[in-house]
Amino acid sequence: MKWFEERLELKKFNEKFLTKTFPSHPTYLLGEIALFSFISLVVTGIFLGLLYEPSVRLVPLFHAMVPAAYASVVNMDMKPMGMIIRRIHHWSAMLMISSLILHFLRIYFTGAYRKPREINWLVGLALMGISLGAAFTGYLLPYSQFSVTATSIAYYMVKSIPWLGGWLSRLIFAGEFPSTAMVPRFFFFHVMLIPAVIIALIGAHMVILVKQKHTEPASNIGRPEAKGGKRLIGIPIWPEQAAISVPFFMFLMFALVLLATYVPINVIELYGAPSPGTPVMRPDWYFLWVYGFLKLIPGDLSVTIFGGKITPETIGGVIFPGTVFLILALIPFLDRWKEPQNYNSNPLSRPFMTAFGLGGGVFILMTAVSGYIDVLHISPRAMLAYTIIATIGVFAAVYAVLSARKKKTSH
Ligand code: HEM
Repeated sequence: MKWFEERLELKKFNEKFLTKTFPSHPTYLLGEIALFSFISLVVTGIFLGLLYEPSVRLVPLFHAMVPAAYASVVNMDMKPMGMIIRRIHHWSAMLMISSLILHFLRIYFTGAYRKPREINWLVGLALMGISLGAAFTGYLLPYSQFSVTATSIAYYMVKSIPWLGGWLSRLIFAGEFPSTAMVPRFFFFHVMLIPAVIIALIGAHMVILVKQKHTEPASNIGRPEAKGGKRLIGIPIWPEQAAISVPFFMFLMFALVLLATYVPINVIELYGAPSPGTPVMRPDWYFLWVYGFLKLIPGDLSVTIFGGKITPETIGGVIFPGTVFLILALIPFLDRWKEPQNYNSNPLSRPFMTAFGLGGGVFILMTAVSGYIDVLHISPRAMLAYTIIATIGVFAAVYAVLSARKKKTSH
């Protein structure tokens, strides 16, 4: 230790960073789960990268000629450890997206995005968008029937962007769909560009977090040790929090291995290699809201503005998710505060923001359900009406109940 201390001044590092306080509240572990899942994705992804072939050249597989990308994933599934690592990779992606959505909900409903944490909220939103991009590019790589169908939907969405669509779609999809250069390009996005951006953004997220400190859980309001929110109540990162986080990470890995062992995921052998027929396939749950919203828009709706054509694909695939992200980005600037807010709020004492969040959540859920209107035998018009009624109904009911509660408690 002395040898290292003389060279690296570890004591100074310890005093500066490892003594930082981590709040003792389980909801603060959600961000850590997203972080752990990302680490698991990188480690398992390195293993998969050694076996995967990013090419669509035709190769023999079980007496048929199929794209090399597809054949390499089927071969991977037949290798010792190949299938389990592929499943752990996929389940880690599910865990990362679920935990970052829950982490986002914790930040939103407790108001942890308020001054001075607006920048970290925006960095977090960028992480959410780019993580969805990682999942999307990953789907194409096995080059199964499912991959090609899902990618073609996205291709037509990007192509429908007025003025820029043709250029952007060629840039992302490496030419007209389906181009032979698409798989290598998506491979580059998935294993190089997107992970590099995620690592840079997580780094920025953590540096800002260390600088600003965590918010104080609402349950600590009034505790004198918190000094009005200026001091964080919790435990130091090293060794106490590490003694919780390391076993917790091991437990998560254990859960992922168990899941991967018993629950198959994205079984590409069932879909088969791409063929001319396009089967009806729904995207994964986290893209269902965009897919479902597309189903609610009349197919013949189209407007031309300054020579640019806006089609249902533009509205459902670009304008709708873009508006949702824009509203989310504006939240800390609309819910403005003069003084820094270092305490989290109890969601029950924020009638408007809680009602807005729950109403918005119901709207997104209903658009996701709309992805199944063909199975549910509901017309797009009726579904749109149910979606609007449910959204406004939940917003109004929550707002009324919480406002009455606030009035009662303030008396
Ligand atoms: C890959 C995605 C993400 C990772 C790995 C991540 C990681 C973390 C971690 C470890 C923390 C500290 C623990 C905690 O407060 O839970 C944190 C805090 C924070 N995150 Fe994230 N996060 C991600 C996405 C997001 C998203 C989507 C948002 C919101 C749009 C966000 C906004 C914030 C904010 C505002 C804080 C400070 C919270 C406080 O002080 O109470 N993060 N993040």
